[in-house]
Parts: sequence; C-alpha cells; structure tokens
Amino acid sequence: MKIAIIGQGGHSKVVRDVIKAMGNAEIVGCLDDKFNAEFFHEQILYGPVDASQRIAEEFPEVKFFVAVGNNKVRMQIVKRLGFPEEFYTTLIHPTAQVSEYSKIGPGSVVMPCAVVNSDSLLGTHVIINTSAVVEHDSKIEDFVHISPTATLTGNVTVREGAHVGASATVIPGMEIGKWAMVGAGATVIHHIPANSTAVGVPAIVKMKEVTGGV
Ligand SMILES: CC(C)(COP(=O)(O)OP(=O)(O)OC[C@H]1O[C@@H](n2cnc3c(N)ncnc32)[C@H](O)[C@@H]1OP(=O)(O)O)[C@@H](O)C(=O)NCCC(=O)NCCS
Repeated sequence: MKIAIIGQGGHSKVVRDVIKAMGNAEIVGCLDDKFNAEFFHEQILYGPVDASQRIAEEFPEVKFFVAVGNNKVRMQIVKRLGFPEEFYTTLIHPTAQVSEYSKIGPGSVVMPCAVVNSDSLLGTHVIINTSAVVEHDSKIEDFVHISPTATLTGNVTVREGAHVGASATVIPGMEIGKWAMVGAGATVIHHIPANSTAVGVPAIVKMKEVTGGV
C-alpha cells in the first residue's frame, strides 16, 4: 500500500513510525502548507496540502492519512480535501490490541500498545493514542482524540471532536459531549456537556468553552 501523509507536525512523526512498524506500506507523499513548492527527497514527494489532489488523480491506488493532532484542524483539512472515505486508510500499530468484534473507521489510528476491546465502534479520523484503553461497547465518534494512557472503561460514548486528555479515566456509561475537552489526569464520573472543559478528580466543568489546544 502507498500512503500520503498530510500534516508534518509532532503527531505525524508518530504516525510515520506506525506506518513503518506495520511493514506493509510505503510513504510516497508528505504534505503540509509549510511547504510552498513541491520537491522530491528520498523518493518521497513533499509539497503543500493541495498537491494531494494531483496525487489522487495520478496514483489512484494511494491512500491518504491526515496526521494532525488538533481535532478541529484535522476536521478542517478533511473537509477541505473533500475526498470520499475510501481514500483514507486505517492505521493500527502491531503492538496494539484490537478486538475482532470492534469497528474502526477510515482515517483513524490506533497507536502502540493501545487497546480497543469488543463491540467498540470508532468513527473516522479518530486518534487512539499510545497505551490508551477503549473498553468494550464504547462509541467514539469522528475526529475524537483519546490521549496517551487515557482509559475509557466500558460503554463510554465520546461525541464528535471531543478530546480526552492524557491519563484521564472515564467511568462506565458516561458521555463526553461534542467538542468537549477532558483535562489530563481527570476522572470523569458525570456526563460532560458539549463544548466544555472538565478537569480534576472527580472532573468538574471548569470552563464552559474549550480553551486548551492539543
Ligand atoms: C484542560 C486543559 C485543556 C486546560 O488548558 P488551558 O485552557 O490552557 O487552562 P489553564 O492552564 O489556563 O488552566 C485553567 C485552570 O484549570 C486548571 N487546570 C488546567 N488543566 C488542569 C488539569 N489537567 N487538571 C486539573 N486542573 C487543571 C488550572 O490549574 C487553572 O486553574 P485556576 O483557574 O484555578 O488557576 C489542559 O490543562 C490539559 O489538561 N490538556 C490536556 C492535554 C493533553 O493531554 N494532551 C495530550 C496530547 S497527545
């Protein structure tokens, strides 16, 4: 499989390592608007994001992956590209444990040592970061980020664009609202409203808006 990576920040470095560890894919493009011209280096095409249209036309077998950690920016790029879902690939690191009874959408990545257990449903362009745990029957919508070592215990719902911070824990049956932020180390024991920021143990809504970034 040939892959073009979109985004050249910190998150894309880890994505690149996942692709290499999978061992069945070759990176043919690295695109980011920080490049204002196209050039080849070690047989990889570097260039601005718009070069993806030409790559898609010239190499119909290429899959794309938007490797941007910020959920909003990732969504904006996906919308800007306008590609159908089948243009994207799903990346699963060989050390991740993914149940055959789970489903993971295109454009999503499961990082090293992460776990996705039975009957969990993950949408598109989701990040399950290093050593995160998604327990059984959880539902994760598009553009969500579950940060390193965060734990979603069973039957948790994470709505579109929400970000669960590093090492946070969400107890069974809770729902994290759309585009909400759960701070690093929080323990969520109540539903978290959409667009709010919740922090602490137990997690309380600290800000009725999302202020922090990735
Ligand atoms: C929650 C978070 C987004 C808030 O960021 P912010 O808007 O810049 O907030 P500030 O640093 O200005 O802090 C605002 C208040 O929240 C508190 N706070 C912030 N993060 C907190 C956390 N994780 N746990 C407990 N309290 C926290 C601060 O102490 C401060 O309290 P105060 O108003 O009483 O002084 C951020 O601190 C955080 O936890 N991000 C997680 C990042 C992460 O895990 N990334 C993974 C990348 S792979």
